[in-house]
Amino acid sequence: MKRLFLPLFVCLTAIPSLAKNITVSSPNNNITVTISDDNNTPSYQVSFADKTIIAPSTLGLSFKNTPSLGDGFSIKSSQRAQANNHWVLPWGERKTVFDKHNEVLVTFSANRKNANTFKVRFRVFNDGIGFRYEVSKQVGLDRDVIEITNELTEFSIANFKEATAWWIPARGWNRYEYTYNTTPFNKVNQVHTPFTFKLNSGVHVSIHEAALTNYASMTLNQRRPGVLKADLTPWSDGILVKTKPNFKTPWRTIQLSKNAVGLLNSDLILNLNEPNKLGDVSWVEPGKYVGIWWGMHIDENTWASGNKHGATTAETERYMDFAAKYGFSGVLVEGWNIGWDGNWFFNGDLFSFTQSFADFDLKAVTDYGKKKGVKLIGHHETSGNVTNYRRQMDAAFKLYEKNGVSQVKTGYVADGGNIKRIDEHGIVRKEWHDGQFMVNEYLHSVTEAAKHHISINTHEPIKATGLRRTYPNWISREGARGQEFNAWGNPPNPPEHTAILPFTRMLAGPMDFTPGIFNMGFNGLGDQTNRPQTTLAKQLALYVVLYSPIQMAADLPRNYEANLPAFQFIQDVPTDWQQSKAIAGEVGDYVAFARQDRHSNDWYVGALTDENARTLTFKLDFLTKNKQYQAQIYRDGTKAEWKNHPYDLVIEQKNVTAKDSLSIKLATSGGFAIRFKAL
Ligand code: NOJ
Ligand code: CA
Repeated sequence: MKRLFLPLFVCLTAIPSLAKNITVSSPNNNITVTISDDNNTPSYQVSFADKTIIAPSTLGLSFKNTPSLGDGFSIKSSQRAQANNHWVLPWGERKTVFDKHNEVLVTFSANRKNANTFKVRFRVFNDGIGFRYEVSKQVGLDRDVIEITNELTEFSIANFKEATAWWIPARGWNRYEYTYNTTPFNKVNQVHTPFTFKLNSGVHVSIHEAALTNYASMTLNQRRPGVLKADLTPWSDGILVKTKPNFKTPWRTIQLSKNAVGLLNSDLILNLNEPNKLGDVSWVEPGKYVGIWWGMHIDENTWASGNKHGATTAETERYMDFAAKYGFSGVLVEGWNIGWDGNWFFNGDLFSFTQSFADFDLKAVTDYGKKKGVKLIGHHETSGNVTNYRRQMDAAFKLYEKNGVSQVKTGYVADGGNIKRIDEHGIVRKEWHDGQFMVNEYLHSVTEAAKHHISINTHEPIKATGLRRTYPNWISREGARGQEFNAWGNPPNPPEHTAILPFTRMLAGPMDFTPGIFNMGFNGLGDQTNRPQTTLAKQLALYVVLYSPIQMAADLPRNYEANLPAFQFIQDVPTDWQQSKAIAGEVGDYVAFARQDRHSNDWYVGALTDENARTLTFKLDFLTKNKQYQAQIYRDGTKAEWKNHPYDLVIEQKNVTAKDSLSIKLATSGGFAIRFKAL
């Protein structure tokens, strides 16, 4: 009998089943996602303006000790939903965010006993798509710890051959702190996200992820030409993700725009994050700060104790006087605590987060600040030893809270893959900054800080994925080459750097770039030296172009006092916006933003260019109609060019209305900054 049935069984499975296709489109019908199970292989594809952008691309996950979800699965059912809402950011580049999308939740199933189903939820917005895996508890996926060994997600780029890509390498020693490469698409190897590229048609695409929690971060690996595979950063033991039954992955996101500027006006990443979980966050304060910081980077001071020690009580009080005089809300002080002596890069075991150097009196400076209306901004450098930090974290936040400190900058200086943790068996493990362990560790510091009403500005962070919506006290972070590279980087940031950042790193969220260097000549202005490779006007433009709710005036007080007219712009510019609009730009060439102050009718525009001078003409139609404004313009002078004449700055006023336009010349690596003061 058995022999008779066997050929029949084989024959039945050999008959190809008819592939199912499910489509879901954006509210404006411009983007369509098609989910298919052709050949019993779950896949998705994406079209934009009737052209295929992502060709059929694999979906799936593999596990240790459990068969994969993916190959051999077919579509079992689907469920549709839609949203048309808006919600409010407590602080941000805009106050109101519109969330309009269509959704389909697709269930895939396999004809076998164990691990039978998984779901993929797709959301399609007018500015792009997001999808994530949702895996319920089932036989084979019911262990306490589920170990993911491969994420099979691919992004197969149609017409990649003519595309240009902007990227930084992933899994490198310097984390996210690289100069950007601009290359043909096929030169891309393994890269970080946001990963942005431009197709021949002019369509711009950026791949990233949203809501990265309890999972490894996704890098992209071009293993076959045109096909980017999700490459998750592993734990020290090689496992990619350790999770629990009933898990969801972060959202995989694809932002799409017919031009470069459109990418900058997208809220996709924020919309895919969960609403605020912290309740009343009125204690989270956007603002501007100065600090005992640049002096160390240009070697005028030291973090270490001794006669060049920067973080003394007297110096902090001097900075507080300066901050109070010019309207800054905070003074950052680095090098205040025990542990900086010797080579601090390797002092992760030595840092105390509660004991001050003898010449720094925490209580005295915070009391002094209270009288002046200025807050101390705290600093915790871990040099990558997170166990040492964890052990002291509660006491450290308590100490700061007791002294009225409500913002702390954290630091994780260590080579990529060299974060030190001591596991539950007392064994030292070395982890990546963007592996799952650190993803959780960074968020832990943020939620612990929230208990003490402290906001966190993370340096050497995990990349931003929109978690500021859920945890608004995660106020800013680094995660790219900032101004500090102009002090000691080899090479310093090239002129195009800040013309690439808005279209790449900044799509993820705010960055603590620390703009505003007025004295470019701390080493001389020559070609081979470390200095900002910009004009002075471009330093001002950065305050508007590179969004962050906290912005530093990074230079030394004496350099600002030597140029008070230019410094006026930094005093005036807000850091919290009612609305923001990118008004012009091409990746790596130039960019211009208009932003409206959240607390007045004033508007600001910042624009900057790469190594090429150019003239930018733009309409003022963002201004309120029938209203008069005084445009206070800070622009490159006729002699300005970044190499020899960075300081040639013209400051002029003009009355304008929404009907006017302006035409302004930007010098090589120049820019302009404008305040439109409502009259
Ligand atoms: C690197 C940070 O980016 C920088 O701002 C800080 O001064 C040093 N680490 C020391 O913590
Ligand atoms: Ca850094």
